[in-house]
Amino acid sequence: MTFEEIRNNDKKYIVNMYGRFDMAVDHAEGATVFDVEGRKYIDMTAGIGVVSMGYADPGWIKAVSGQLEKYQHVSNLFYQEPGAELAEELVRRTGMSKALFVNSGSEANEAAFKIARKYGNTAAKGTGKPGKMEFSYGVFKGKAPESFDKGRNAIISLRDSFHGRTIAAITATGQEKYHKYFDPFAPGFYYADPGDLSGLKELADEVYPCAVVMELVQGEGGVNVLDKEFVKGVEKLCRERDIALIADEVQTGIGRTGSLFAFQQYDIKPDMVTFAKGIGNGLPIGGVICSDKYADVLEPGDHGCTYGMNPVCCSGASYVLSRIDDPFLAGVREKGEYIRERLEAFSEVEKTTGLGLMIGVVLKSMDPSEACVKLLENGVMTLTAGNKVRLLPPLVISYEEIDEAMKGFEKVFG
Ligand SMILES: Cc1ncc(COP(=O)(O)O)c(C=O)c1O
Repeated sequence: MTFEEIRNNDKKYIVNMYGRFDMAVDHAEGATVFDVEGRKYIDMTAGIGVVSMGYADPGWIKAVSGQLEKYQHVSNLFYQEPGAELAEELVRRTGMSKALFVNSGSEANEAAFKIARKYGNTAAKGTGKPGKMEFSYGVFKGKAPESFDKGRNAIISLRDSFHGRTIAAITATGQEKYHKYFDPFAPGFYYADPGDLSGLKELADEVYPCAVVMELVQGEGGVNVLDKEFVKGVEKLCRERDIALIADEVQTGIGRTGSLFAFQQYDIKPDMVTFAKGIGNGLPIGGVICSDKYADVLEPGDHGCTYGMNPVCCSGASYVLSRIDDPFLAGVREKGEYIRERLEAFSEVEKTTGLGLMIGVVLKSMDPSEACVKLLENGVMTLTAGNKVRLLPPLVISYEEIDEAMKGFEKVFG
């Protein structure tokens, strides 16, 4: 099909829920993408933080196709080596206890919310199972949530956060624009301002939460790096009050910020870490890694996911993890610094934000969406986030590809 034919078919047959760029992809290699008309682009999006190992990585293709030749799916009713192996590696590299697998970031957060709620609902009722109340809440201020008599089940998230598109995940998402049209929302979600520890404590006094969820670098909200003192303060509060600290690492995880998970740079121990995107390298997989305390909260029948722990996805994911060692992570940090330095030299760039290869670009006068269109015309694929241009290149992007992208950036920002 020609580009025109693809676009016409898309407009006619696909639900109009995405603002698409005027480009149709034909094939790709490394961090370089070719469109159906033969034009070449440097990809600074990695499929929104997904294609961590780049396109057409031979090792990943071998891992995935090798599993495809064995079997593609049997369901979660049977033990399977690819999932068991992947979980072991995730646990080993995080110091946590157990993992579960789903298909996406939203579902990973849903699963973490369910674990926190089951723990909170049973613990707060004083059953002692699966976790008994280990703290004294002090004076309970404000109005208790309606469901309080049933347990401790409120979930606090941060303003400007993004946690996904399912009903619970958009409810947890602290941005009004995602809430338009979709009420009524799931009850029991409350928002605190990032950086405002006393505000979060006051809210916790009021709503008696079972969990606090946060992205350590808010992705969709504008590549906002959370303050270390604030994050440590939230962790302390969670410890004192037996609240689950959930790190949503769907975008920040799997090497993106220069460590395997961003929490490892914050010197904290979350109770649950949710992941997706980069571990799949393009195949749909997400999951939750749980600390000891939350590892056995779910029992058979409490939760499920038909494709969760799919062996093809898990084999690809184990390959991705095997590539992310210390030298690889040092490379991510170095390339991130190099990109930021080069960008900050352009006259249109006010400043950059982010960690590793998760980069936000604040512009002086240009509209970020218009900038992305112009950048594409000049051979660079980019994203927006909040009021910034956002860059999430494949972690394996080469310096040659970065320099090539800079030629496009220079034409638009120079
Ligand atoms: C931090 C974060 N959490 C959750 C999600 C939702 O992931 P998915 O689109 O795979 O459901 C995203 C997606 O952008 C994300 O950035």
